[in-house]
Amino acid sequence: MGFLEGKRLLVTGVITDQSIAFSVAKLAQENGATVVLTGFGRLSLVERIAKRLPAPPPVIELDVTDDEHLGTLSARVGEHVDGLDGVLHSIGFAPASCLGGGFLDAPWADVATAVQVSTYSYKSLATACLPMMSPGGSIVGLTFDATVAWPVYDWMGVAKAGLESCNRYLARYLGAKGIRSNLVSAGPLRTMAARSIPGFEQFEDTWVAKAPLGWDLTDQEPAARACLALMSDWFPATTGEIVHVDGGFHALGA
Ligand SMILES: NC(=O)c1ccc[n+]([C@@H]2O[C@H](COP(=O)([O-])OP(=O)(O)OC[C@H]3O[C@@H](n4cnc5c(N)ncnc54)[C@H](O)[C@@H]3O)[C@@H](O)[C@H]2O)c1
Repeated sequence: MGFLEGKRLLVTGVITDQSIAFSVAKLAQENGATVVLTGFGRLSLVERIAKRLPAPPPVIELDVTDDEHLGTLSARVGEHVDGLDGVLHSIGFAPASCLGGGFLDAPWADVATAVQVSTYSYKSLATACLPMMSPGGSIVGLTFDATVAWPVYDWMGVAKAGLESCNRYLARYLGAKGIRSNLVSAGPLRTMAARSIPGFEQFEDTWVAKAPLGWDLTDQEPAARACLALMSDWFPATTGEIVHVDGGFHALGA
């Protein structure tokens, strides 16, 4: 019996087997959960990656900026499971102008895309899944510490600050339904999203050198474990929270 026995989880954000969401789906299945994946755009690729999971799950199409996808999501998920106990938001995107040092020049249209996909979508995904959820349900997203201004992270940092606030508001509005909302603040991990940020290696070097527990840039499992702990029954009174899985980096000054 795994600690997620009987849990039905919707996992967004798998694009490679390095995706944080892939580790979440894998550990979830290993611990007894039933998983449904969503894929964005390259569905055949996501389906191919899904076959590397212990029990290849169904893959449902979801572009979080598409109202039709969102409006039909619960019905489409309902073809595979009769409810949802947990939802993982593992989605982020910013156009190139928003990252890498061009903060002062990025146009609003690009910033708007970054915020829609990386921030507003946390609320959109939550409300789209609500018809499938009941008291005890849990929504979890992923942030990169947005309390400070990092080099090169630029408008994605602003989008993450918005996500951290959105998490608190979701906790406020979903609490009465008995549904929790929490984020995992992960240290840098070598995924496709991270590789698309020019200069991201600056974080990598600093993190590995400074994190009190040390930091493995290629191990998604600690972040995935925290996501699943928050979706389990072991954080029943925790919502609006941000759990750091960063080797302790955030706790230090210089
Ligand atoms: N890798 C890191 O260093 C790191 C650190 C902290 C937080 N995070 C966050 O973790 C989350 C997952 O990223 P990852 O690092 O696993 O990278 P990843 O590239 O594997 O995952 C990003 C996912 O976002 C999806 N996506 C992009 N636009 C979408 C849209 N319109 N609709 C639906 N899905 C869309 C992509 O298909 C992809 O699966 C992101 O929120 C990211 O910001 C990553």
